[in-house]
Amino acid sequence: MSADRYAVVGQPVAHSQSPFIHERFARQTGQAMTYSRIEAPPAQFDAIVKRFFAEGGKGLNVTLPHKQAAAILSDDLTPRAQTAGAVNTLALRADGRLLGDNTDGAGLARDLLNNLRVTIAGRRVLLLGAGGAARGVLAPLLGLKPAELTIANRSPDRARELAAGFAAFGECRGCGFDEVRGGPYDVILNATSASLASHVPPLHAGVVGNRSFCYDMAYGREDTAFVRWAQAQGAARTSMGLGMLVEQAAEAFHLWRGVRPDTASVIAALKAELRS
Ligand code: ATR
Repeated sequence: MSADRYAVVGQPVAHSQSPFIHERFARQTGQAMTYSRIEAPPAQFDAIVKRFFAEGGKGLNVTLPHKQAAAILSDDLTPRAQTAGAVNTLALRADGRLLGDNTDGAGLARDLLNNLRVTIAGRRVLLLGAGGAARGVLAPLLGLKPAELTIANRSPDRARELAAGFAAFGECRGCGFDEVRGGPYDVILNATSASLASHVPPLHAGVVGNRSFCYDMAYGREDTAFVRWAQAQGAARTSMGLGMLVEQAAEAFHLWRGVRPDTASVIAALKAELRS
């Protein structure tokens, strides 16, 4: 029997680490599958996805800028994908229907709780950004019952709208960066794409304290601008989103193959790969 085909689709996709991760998961769990990269301009996304499945593909990971388009294209959505309004995992079901899931929030929660041993329950949490990345993790974060969840964004209205839209999942408020006050936050999560341009959100000194944990959902070979900034502010601990990347992949792998791979060894391998 030939190996089942999977891929990550995005633009740009050349630097995606997903093949590295899924190839290790497959080897570890003895699954016969291949995993490739597919570059897709937005105008061709639907056609490329449909062709992939028509030619026998079994599942896709979807990355920027296609996560919302993937939600529209899905025949069915999991509740968490419905809530996020975005899909990062497509799975072909036995009846031929395409299921859209979103494993980003679960991946973040697993990385924070299981790998980094960060407590969210009862803590003051600050989420930076109000775009797709923030929206995707908001409901799972609220589900962890922080004492306070503030969403701060360059465009304050976007943060306020996002907070209002998720009120059913827990209390949260939206504001601009300069409105963030009230002493150091316990946990600060960067879901802006500012780091990619080496920008850091302009927060007041005092938002980060010597007990703050700062997490950048982005990652790179070097520390991101946000991680460097947090360290300079005296944060107790910082992390980039490599663990989230591996954990969201593990959730997708579980949906596709029905087995849960070990993530710790793959996070370690990916860190070593990025350093080399
Ligand atoms: P994503 O899916 O990665 O979240 P997005 O929906 O385009 O992408 O959202 C990008 C986020 O990063 C937004 O919160 C954006 O702020 P605005 O809503 O004000 O545009 C934020 N962002 C991007 N560049 C930024 C910068 N240089 N400084 C601060 N925030 C920035």
